[in-house]
Amino acid sequence: LHIAVLMGGWSAEREVSLMSGNGVADALEARGHRVSRVELTRQVAVTLAELKPDVVFNALHGTPGEDGTVQGMLDLMGVPYTHSGLVTSVIAIDKQLTKQALVPHGVPMPGGRMVKSPELFERDPLPRPYVLKPVNEGSSVGVAIVTAEGNYGNPIAAEAKGPWQEFDELLAEPFIRGRELTTAVLGDQALGVTELKPKSGFYDYDSKYTDGLTEHVFPAQIADEVTEACKRIALDAHRLLGCKGASRSDFRWDDSQGIEGLFLLEVNTQPGMTPLSLVPEQARHLGISYGELVQRIVDEALG
Ligand code: DAL
Ligand code: MG
Repeated sequence: LHIAVLMGGWSAEREVSLMSGNGVADALEARGHRVSRVELTRQVAVTLAELKPDVVFNALHGTPGEDGTVQGMLDLMGVPYTHSGLVTSVIAIDKQLTKQALVPHGVPMPGGRMVKSPELFERDPLPRPYVLKPVNEGSSVGVAIVTAEGNYGNPIAAEAKGPWQEFDELLAEPFIRGRELTTAVLGDQALGVTELKPKSGFYDYDSKYTDGLTEHVFPAQIADEVTEACKRIALDAHRLLGCKGASRSDFRWDDSQGIEGLFLLEVNTQPGMTPLSLVPEQARHLGISYGELVQRIVDEALG
C-alpha cells in the first residue's frame, strides 16, 4: 500500500505528533509499505492530491488533526484515513461535549463547568481541590491542579503565572484524589488497564514524555471489579462516540470510595504512538507488536 503518514502541525502537541508519526512511518516501512511522511501545512490537501495515497495514517494530535477539521478535509477528498471520523472527533476533542454525549448513557464522569480565565483572579470556580484544563488540548498542556495547601499555578493569586493563563476559557472540574488509570480500545476490544505512577505526583507533559519519570504498572494492581469497570466504560465510550481504529480512555479512581470513586476523564481519539505511549504498550503486553498494531489500525480504515 501507499500510505501517507500525516504528522506535525501547529498544535501544542506538534512534537508528540512528530514522534508518533515517525514511529508509525518506520513501522509501516518495515512491513513493506510505501510510506510518504507528510507534515501538516495549509497546503496539505494539495500535497495529498498529488501523492494519491491509498490511505492516510493520521498521526496528528490536538487541533486541527484531532478535532474533525482534517477528517472533514479527507472526507471531502475521498481519501480513507485511520482513527475516528469527523463527528466523533468534534465531540471527543471537547471534554465538555464528551460529557454531554456520555453522561446521559450512565458513563461516570466528573461534573464541571466552564469559567472565563479573568474570573479566576476573583474567586474559585469550585470548592478546592479542583482542576483547571483547556477544553480541547491534550498531553496535559495547560492543566493546573489547584489544591487547598500548596498550589500549583494558583490562579487566585494575581501574580501567579500558570499555563492556564494562555486560555480565555477553561474547564474546572473537581480534583479526584487517588489513582491514574488508562485503557486502550483497539477495534472492539478493551486491551487492559495501566496505572500511571508519576514521580512528581502529577502526570503532566514532562512525566508523559520523559523516560523514567513515570512508572507504568500493567496490569494495574487494583480490584478485578475496577479493572472490569474501566474496560467496560472504555468500550462503551468508544462505541457511543463512534470511535474507529484505536482510542484511549483516561480515568481517575479515588480508591477510598470503591467502584463509586471511578471517573472517566476523557476519550482520546488520536492516542499517542510514541515509544512511551500507552496504547502500544498495552498492545505489546497482549502480544501485539507495534508493527501489528499499526497494521490493524490501517486495516480498519480500509475495511
Ligand atoms: N494527546 C496524547 C497524544 C495522547 O492522548 O496520547
Ligand atoms: Mg487527552
